[in-house]
Amino acid sequence: MIYVLCRLLLACFLSLPVFAASAQDWQKRSIYQLVTDRFATSDGTSPACDTSKREYCNGTWQGVIGKLDYIQNMGFDAIWISPVVANIEETTADGQAYHGYWTEDQNSLNPHFGTSDDLKLLSTTLHERSMYLMIDVVVNHMAATALPPNLNYSAFAPANFSKSSDFHPFCWITDYSNQTNVEQCWLGDSNVPLADVDTEDPSIVTFLNGWIHDLVQVYGADGIRIDTVKHIRKDFWPNFTASAAVWSIGEVLDGDVQYVSQYTEVLDAVLDYPAFYPLTAAFGNTSGDLSALAQTVQKEQSAYRLGTSMTGSFLENQDNPRFQSFQTDQALVLNAMTWPFVQDGVPILYYGQEQGYTGANDPYNREALWLSGYEEDKPLVIHVRMLNAARKAAVASSGNFLSTQLTFLTTTKNALAVSKPPMLALLSNGGSSSNPSWSVPNAGYKSGETLIDAVSCNTLKADKQGGVSAQSFNGTPKVNSLLYRPIGPCSHSFRTSHSLL
Ligand SMILES: *[C@@H]1O[C@H](CO)[C@@H](O)[C@H](O)[C@H]1NC(C)=O
Ligand SMILES: *[C@@H]1O[C@H](CO)[C@@H](O)[C@H](O)[C@H]1NC(C)=O
Ligand SMILES: *[C@@H]1O[C@H](CO)[C@@H](O)[C@H](O)[C@H]1NC(C)=O
Ligand SMILES: *[C@@H]1O[C@H](CO)[C@@H](O)[C@H](O)[C@H]1NC(C)=O
Ligand SMILES: *[C@@H]1O[C@H](CO)[C@@H](O)[C@H](O)[C@H]1NC(C)=O
Ligand SMILES: *[C@@H]1O[C@H](CO)[C@@H](O)[C@H](O)[C@H]1NC(C)=O
Repeated sequence: MIYVLCRLLLACFLSLPVFAASAQDWQKRSIYQLVTDRFATSDGTSPACDTSKREYCNGTWQGVIGKLDYIQNMGFDAIWISPVVANIEETTADGQAYHGYWTEDQNSLNPHFGTSDDLKLLSTTLHERSMYLMIDVVVNHMAATALPPNLNYSAFAPANFSKSSDFHPFCWITDYSNQTNVEQCWLGDSNVPLADVDTEDPSIVTFLNGWIHDLVQVYGADGIRIDTVKHIRKDFWPNFTASAAVWSIGEVLDGDVQYVSQYTEVLDAVLDYPAFYPLTAAFGNTSGDLSALAQTVQKEQSAYRLGTSMTGSFLENQDNPRFQSFQTDQALVLNAMTWPFVQDGVPILYYGQEQGYTGANDPYNREALWLSGYEEDKPLVIHVRMLNAARKAAVASSGNFLSTQLTFLTTTKNALAVSKPPMLALLSNGGSSSNPSWSVPNAGYKSGETLIDAVSCNTLKADKQGGVSAQSFNGTPKVNSLLYRPIGPCSHSFRTSHSLL
């Protein structure tokens, strides 16, 4: 037993209690995604952080602990932190491993982010607040600083990864239509080749399954986000996630619904990349097409094992340009930000979006949040708080909210009415100089029922048939009306929305 517990250095400590959170538990939640190095410093100072340098800016797990109020005040009840294990220390031509995706030692923590005790304290502090911890994990590859034959395999730890035969023979991925090429050739570039672990080797599989089990136990993780899922054979995943024994959401970086749907057979959930592309295109431009978003979502609803409830929906992340790098019209921003909170999957918000960050491609989309001052009364922060509160109210008010897939009651190029009873979201992409209106017959409300718009806090009444007609006006950052019932507190009383849980 001692051997089992201490198989990993990081397992040589007592395990922390986990909530044993189920998929249903996660579906009630909303997730704040953060890059540990860029979220908060231990001592609360605000060092300059030049994203273009791709170097450590010294955010830590202690820093995250110190800013949990900021996250919770927006209504989030889960965080997803960037990978925690030790990475290569070199400053490469691609910069440093501040993002955490360049694993060198699976059994040690990244000392830049703190100690084992710090990460455990983050976990227990989250749990005291009834919040969940999701840890990002990478098992497809290990990061090196030279290509074979110069690659030093013995720099990797543990010993299970210390020889070339523990890896697939070197070849770059060149053909994304060839799944063997995708799974067995290498990601990365010649500055930082990502040595592709031989996940066909039974002893490596045994090691990784034990590793994820211990990582989850030792740090009391409630869920894992899995990197580069499509780069490992599909039948690797069921035993891996069973060993983790917590909710898993995978990154299958592909916009094709049928392709991604295969991974819904082997994971609890997938990041909603197929909807991400039409989402950003639809709201990214007043001539974008909202009906394309609707069509994608409808395809996903029928293609995924458990429908779109098994997705995590996002507008931004660490790998894509922030929305405001290509569209700053605040009406479009507010509409686009609303989508993840009114759809079937778990809403995910990438840190900094609420502060209006505009970074484009990696590395510019990984700004230090401390430079924002963590202001809580900015319009987008308030918008996020409202969206979380409205979603929590919907979850709390109806046993069917999470189990019933949304329907589109209006679908045009420029307007959507998204019905997920008791919530009805009215979205448009006309921008701040438009005055969109929606006429939604049979929206499912009671005759004459009073509804409240979580964005404007205005009320309106359903018509005799339970339909809704509404208009929103230009300029004001309230183009989207998010209606829900029952009438609850509105406006700034949502500040304490987490106490509704
Ligand atoms: C981070 O810490 C290191 C080591 O103390 C220091 O050299 C570096 O300047 C710090 N970076 C920033 C952005 O403050
Ligand atoms: C390879 O890595 C090991 C372990 O870090 C180190 O001891 C050794 O010096 C390295 N070899 C070369 C050639 O850099
Ligand atoms: C697919 O990729 C693998 C690995 O690179 C390669 O061996 C195989 O020849 C490729 N198959 C085809 C049909 O190109
Ligand atoms: C991992 O490596 C260690 C040390 O060499 C070894 O004892 C253990 O059996 C390996 N684990 C697996 C699953 O191969
Ligand atoms: C998964 O685990 C079971 C039980 O240990 C084993 O029989 C099966 O071969 C494993 N599947 C894969 C694909 O490794
Ligand atoms: C918006 O779409 C139009 C028509 O497709 C295109 O010409 C224009 O460049 C787009 N604007 C932006 C900001 O992408």
